[in-house]
Amino acid sequence: MALPFTPLTVVFEDVQYFVDTPMEMRERGFTSPRLQLLSDITGALSPGVLTAMMGVSGAGKTTLLDVLAGRKTSGYIEGQIKIGGYPKVQETFARVSGYCEQTDIHSPQITVEESVMFSAWMRLSPEIDSKTKAEFVNEVIETIELEGVKDALVGIPGVNGLSTEQRKRLTIAVELVANPSVIFMDEPTTGLDARSAAIVMRAVKNIVDTGRTIVCTIHQPSIDIFESFDELILLKAGGRIIYSGPMGHHSSSVIEYFEELKGFQTSKETIILQHGCWKLLRNLQRLNLELILPCYTSNQPSSSEFQKFMPVLSLYLSDITQILTWLLLQN
Ligand SMILES: Nc1ncnc2c1ncn2[C@@H]1O[C@H](COP(=O)(O)OP(=O)(O)O)[C@@H](O)[C@H]1O
Ligand SMILES: [Mg+2]
Repeated sequence: MALPFTPLTVVFEDVQYFVDTPMEMRERGFTSPRLQLLSDITGALSPGVLTAMMGVSGAGKTTLLDVLAGRKTSGYIEGQIKIGGYPKVQETFARVSGYCEQTDIHSPQITVEESVMFSAWMRLSPEIDSKTKAEFVNEVIETIELEGVKDALVGIPGVNGLSTEQRKRLTIAVELVANPSVIFMDEPTTGLDARSAAIVMRAVKNIVDTGRTIVCTIHQPSIDIFESFDELILLKAGGRIIYSGPMGHHSSSVIEYFEELKGFQTSKETIILQHGCWKLLRNLQRLNLELILPCYTSNQPSSSEFQKFMPVLSLYLSDITQILTWLLLQN
């Protein structure tokens, strides 16, 4: 690429995040002055590795992303965050990191190429000459596969101009053109159909292949998208990590880890339901009852029995539990 960058590893250890307890909660009798949103978060993001951050809505995915990216302007952060082996200094980190917010905000009156150029001229160092900047803009447009629409007007969402998926890729291009070593993305595939999500993920993959460090929060992904990630950070409600590590081939590392957990396989029913979960995890794209039902035909738990195991399951894979609940309702 026209501009060099330094590959950087982000390592975080025992990260805690607190906020002052909101007034409404105190009025409802929550006496503690501080509310803990993240607890004992440890993990690493590596160059050339695509990391997924998953967990139910409200688990703390965006909060963790914001804490790591240094976007929290209030609250209290404890623990260590190291960038390339050194404690994070926000002023320098801001120059080598990018953040794609969940909502895509762009100027409707300019073209795709102009949007990327504007970002390049605003965010790249003034010492870089215009020719190099223009070259880099072209490279970014190619990497994100936006050549076909580079002269199209951005337009207004839902009215004219770019589709939702193209807008998401423009958001990514606008960040990439600042030449970051580390990119944070909040739910880049949420609200997209399977095909559009796959296009966005291909663009993300293209960036990772340049040796950059990327972490994305994802919500209820299809199995294809889930398995396009190299590593997984799984959060449960309350901002606690329940898995942090490699995915393995066809999620094998994740599956092995949960299957080996002591105390998890407490009863025949949980094993059966658990098994249903793994099957579902492998087959999220083909959501149908045939997949689930055979998993517990030997026991046939009733709806209320099924509900009993919900808390156990939700401790581990709340996203999938939601799908199971949904499937149950469909039944
Ligand atoms: N500033 C804040 N004050 C109090 N609670 C907050 C604040 N920010 C987030 N929360 C709470 O923290 C939890 C995690 O939020 P968030 O990180 O947005 O979840 P996710 O992105 O996983 O859906 C939620 O329960 C949310 O209501
Ligand atoms: Mg969020």
